[in-house]
Amino acid sequence: MAFSELVSFFFTMYLLLPTPISSNNISLSPEELAQIPVNFLDLAKKPDVFDWMVGIRRKLHENPELSFEEFETSKLIRAELDQMGIPYTYPIAVTGIVGYIGTGGPPFVALRADMDALAMQELVEWEHKSKVPGKMHACGHDAHIAMLLGAAKMLQELRHKLLVFSFFLFCFIKLICVHGQIGTVVLLFQPAEEGWGGAKKMLDAGVLKNVEAIFGLHVSPAYPIGTVASRPGPLTAGSGRFAAVISGKGGHAAIPQQTIDPILAASNVIVSLQHLVSREADPLDSQVVTVTKFQGGGSFNVIPDSVSIGGTFRALSKESFAQLRQRIEEVITMQARVQRCNATVTFNENGKPFYPVLVNNKDLHEHFRKVAGDMLGFQNLKVMLPLMGAEDFSFYAEAIPGYFFCLGLDDKTKGTFELEHSPLFRINEDALPYGAALHASLAMRYLLENQPESTSLKGSFHDEL
Ligand SMILES: *[C@@H]1O[C@H](CO)[C@@H](O)[C@H](O)[C@H]1NC(C)=O
Ligand SMILES: *[C@@H]1O[C@H](CO)[C@@H](O)[C@H](O)[C@H]1NC(C)=O
Ligand SMILES: [Zn+2]
Ligand SMILES: [Zn+2]
Repeated sequence: MAFSELVSFFFTMYLLLPTPISSNNISLSPEELAQIPVNFLDLAKKPDVFDWMVGIRRKLHENPELSFEEFETSKLIRAELDQMGIPYTYPIAVTGIVGYIGTGGPPFVALRADMDALAMQELVEWEHKSKVPGKMHACGHDAHIAMLLGAAKMLQELRHKLLVFSFFLFCFIKLICVHGQIGTVVLLFQPAEEGWGGAKKMLDAGVLKNVEAIFGLHVSPAYPIGTVASRPGPLTAGSGRFAAVISGKGGHAAIPQQTIDPILAASNVIVSLQHLVSREADPLDSQVVTVTKFQGGGSFNVIPDSVSIGGTFRALSKESFAQLRQRIEEVITMQARVQRCNATVTFNENGKPFYPVLVNNKDLHEHFRKVAGDMLGFQNLKVMLPLMGAEDFSFYAEAIPGYFFCLGLDDKTKGTFELEHSPLFRINEDALPYGAALHASLAMRYLLENQPESTSLKGSFHDEL
């Protein structure tokens, strides 16, 4: 390790010491801060971090588990945290884990990875194909876990290396001293992102108590490797599901006057629902209402008693979402009445929560831009348009300032990377170091730049040298 590398290493390291090394007033210059993400990326690409992450990711990929069933996944993560000597709380929200790195004191900054797989059959033929028929990590959550563990490993190892170089450290401490605490990185390993709102359960369990900011990422084949994409403000939509039973009176298809036809009523309901977005919503305020289910009847000459329909609705603001929900209920019940039917409408069966709109905090967007720009070059920060898809990170970002971004993994030299939820979805494992380094850098820089006033770091490290 070159001396300059060593120096920047120490920077990164002493900041996470368990006990404050007190006295003078120091801070890092912009150049020193800019070096942190670069160092983390270098470190994450080294075999002892990279190969280790790849190994974890492949193990997870072979053994996918569905929402709230991530028992083995959780066990594997805990074993790694134990190995690294990182304390954690478990279980939270059935299989969730919260780990802690740092002083144990404020400020607290959280990093999140989701853990669940999807109920679908993997069609990629490769050595580490899913061993569980009908289950697959097709959304990249296996990679998300590996990346967060990679970040944890780097942050934690910096502390161990400190001990190895304790003599140097001693010299440094005499030069650089920090008042008070540096802070704590909170690691959230969360179950059930895929539709079940595991994030809400984690949040309800109090995992963000005292946490000032939270970061999360999603791998994305839509962007090239080495790039990231996001935006301030709304990023993913608020999302809900509706279901309705439209009841009439069944009977002979040739004697319609003695029946009340729910098929026709349901058809009119579906047509009327189309007007919500096309006629009632502001064209510049994106919304979606899609009917995806229509079940009724089973015969050519019998009008059924009832029809069931169901679907999803989305909006990019809380207000529009609430408005849609109310109007969907009204349109279904009232339009059914027009045809003499009765309708009952339910939202989010099985007690699944609505996913809120994911709103990226504007200050954290600036923080992200600086950190990711320093690491990847500012030309590699892409601006994303909002998506009508949903992501339960929104629960966290609704509770405290949060920031979510996409991590590019596309690489044309390695074939086609299919989109998430495809049975042909593949991870470009070269993206793992980027994710790990971004997690580590976002947290580290956040702590550094958000020290409480009384303990703010002032002065320049270089000057001291
Ligand atoms: C440390 O820096 C802060 C911010 O500039 C300042 O308010 C404080 O007085 C300084 N403390 C010492 C001990 O110099
Ligand atoms: C609709 O509900 C009303 C009030 O409960 C009931 O009288 C009527 O028979 C119902 N109509 C149908 C078609 O089920
Ligand atoms: Zn998904
Ligand atoms: Zn996902």
